[in-house]
Amino acid sequence: MEKVIISPSILSADFSKLGIEIEEVKKAGAQWLHIDVMDGHFVPNITIGVPVIKSIRKNTDLILDTHLMIENPENYIESFAKAGSDIITFHYEACKDDKKVRDVIHQIKGYGIKAGLSIKPNTKPESVYQFLNEVDLLLVMTVEPGFGGQEFIHDCALKIPKIKQNAPNNIIIQVDGGINNLTSKICKSLGASSLVAGSYIYKSQDYKKSIENLMQ
Ligand code: DX5
Ligand code: ZN
Repeated sequence: MEKVIISPSILSADFSKLGIEIEEVKKAGAQWLHIDVMDGHFVPNITIGVPVIKSIRKNTDLILDTHLMIENPENYIESFAKAGSDIITFHYEACKDDKKVRDVIHQIKGYGIKAGLSIKPNTKPESVYQFLNEVDLLLVMTVEPGFGGQEFIHDCALKIPKIKQNAPNNIIIQVDGGINNLTSKICKSLGASSLVAGSYIYKSQDYKKSIENLMQ
């Protein structure tokens, strides 16, 4: 099996010492950093914005994996790209039609960075088949987006092989929500190539051990 990419979500980090928390997951073996942006409209929570990403960018060379859980993503792609994101993932459900989805993918790619598209638990995988040749990453949410620390929804993971079958080989299939040492194995066996984990890493005592457990 190919090596899976672990993307620790800073949503569960201690924000009063964010720089240290980021340095620690890097030392623990992470290559990516997952940044959850929420607007209080697309999801019922508000988190991190552009200034925080700019500061993080100045202080780390980790791949910044920005997950936009916001309405009207097209209005914010430029800011999040210029802030230093290496990957920007937005939600299929935040777009009014398929043309909008395509436009936002191209908008992101216009900044020379990777474009990701995400689907919420109630969205059918078939809805995004038409975009699989255009995106670099497809994010399957295994919890309802909005909060860290929720329980993994097993049925959502069954979308992974369906997407894989219909996607080019080099696409990254990422899973986000409720990932721990057990659910990570399910997702990998179904074909996921990147795992986001917030609470499993940041609420643990040993980040290195937790990341190793997810990679096994
Ligand atoms: C949830 C976010 C996740 C969150 C995952 O809406 O997209 O990235 O941080 O947290 P855990 O790993 O605790 O489920
Ligand atoms: Zn996320």
